[in-house]
Amino acid sequence: MSDSGENLDPKGKQPAELDSDSSKGDSRGGFETLLGQMVVDHGMVTEQELLDCKQLLEKASESDRPRTLSEILFKEDYVTQRQLERLKRDFADERVSRRIPGYRIIRKLGEGAMAKVFLAKQISLDGLVAIKILPIKFSSNETFIERFYKEGRAAAKLNDQNIVGAYDVGKAGEHHYFVMEYVDGDTVYDRIKKARKLEESEAIDIVLQVASALKHAHSQGFIHRDIKPKNIMISSTGTVKLADLGLARAITDKEAAEAESGRAYGTPFYISPEQIRGQVDIGKQCDIYGLGATFYHMVTGRVPFEGKNPSEVMHRHLKSELKPPDHVNPDLGAGVSLIIEKMMAKKVPDRYQEVETLIEDLDAVVAGNMPIHARPVVDMQSVLSTIESQNQEPEIVRPAHEPGLMSNPLVIALLIGCILSVLLNVVLILISM
Ligand SMILES: Nc1ncnc2c1ncn2[C@@H]1O[C@H](COP(=O)(O)OP(=O)(O)OP(=O)(O)O)[C@@H](O)[C@H]1O
Ligand SMILES: [Mg+2]
Repeated sequence: MSDSGENLDPKGKQPAELDSDSSKGDSRGGFETLLGQMVVDHGMVTEQELLDCKQLLEKASESDRPRTLSEILFKEDYVTQRQLERLKRDFADERVSRRIPGYRIIRKLGEGAMAKVFLAKQISLDGLVAIKILPIKFSSNETFIERFYKEGRAAAKLNDQNIVGAYDVGKAGEHHYFVMEYVDGDTVYDRIKKARKLEESEAIDIVLQVASALKHAHSQGFIHRDIKPKNIMISSTGTVKLADLGLARAITDKEAAEAESGRAYGTPFYISPEQIRGQVDIGKQCDIYGLGATFYHMVTGRVPFEGKNPSEVMHRHLKSELKPPDHVNPDLGAGVSLIIEKMMAKKVPDRYQEVETLIEDLDAVVAGNMPIHARPVVDMQSVLSTIESQNQEPEIVRPAHEPGLMSNPLVIALLIGCILSVLLNVVLILISM
């Protein structure tokens, strides 16, 4: 149960002081009160072990140590100092969120550029949900909040096994929140981080499931606008779930990019050229581009365009030629590579216009055939130069040492014969005179 490399208090079995608002003096509320539930929720102790610790605590006199539950848990080796510190941090997050009526927060699931996501129990139905809580700074932006509610409510109407279900939106204190289906699993981002790149068949399976989610969303008038590995979750049973549908629409692409640029790990690796340009008429093809960029990352282990900073990456989405995925990973099938290139075409009309045609191409590749819609791009320049070179006069190549007339011994013999006969005739003429 203990983490390695623990920093134990050299004076004995006592947890080092936690930071402000710590266990001291709050045995009637705050951290110590919630700690019991938290250690059980985290699986650090059983209900029975917690009861035993609480009994020990009751028996301890005022002057005795340990006097708090955290000290007992530490002394009895149920938690390490590092775990206590982590629990303390979770508690601070939890305090923000535990005022959401009807839900009991269990633990933090993750944190993105704009929000924190918690695992919670919906008390009425006794089921697990995930709650995304927005920071206070968003509360002052009325347009954003309006869109957040409108989109959240609309997303709640979508019902698809490949889309993370949206349940509720609301406000607790100063914080707005979004309640959604809890996915017990990891994200495609986690998978890539672990394995660097995915098997072609696994990646195709994921893309097909996301495409199916998009088919449903697009048919209902939704455009995701933020398809990326972090927004694609895979449940423990292997079902792919597209997250944050409806939420991305609440903020403009520019706001999202700006929020991301403030984070060291967030860079617009999957954003479409038309979103970068800030076009107002963004169509569903931006989701096909984002999914293509995600596909690229999955099968090559690299993002399509790298750069020193977000603006350099965005510039490359607009201007740089995409290195074909099968040039990065030569084991990749030509069909998959062509599909990704079509998904990531810079000009919207060159892309798949509907996810249906993308699905047809992926199905063709799965069946062992070449894609129907994605075709190799014909490079007219190279075709023209080939034709030109074929029309040129054939070059006559002479052997380096073509034998000349004078190198023929017969010719030389004849020549010598001629010279001798001329000389002989001259001599005979002279004598006869
Ligand atoms: N429905 C969910 N069920 C389980 N875990 C979730 C769920 N939604 C989000 N998470 C976890 O919470 C993390 C944070 O999610 P969030 O949407 O806030 O940010 P992100 O998508 O990871 O990144 P970014 O803010 O950069 O878009 C995710 O990476 C994921 O691990
Ligand atoms: Mg997300």
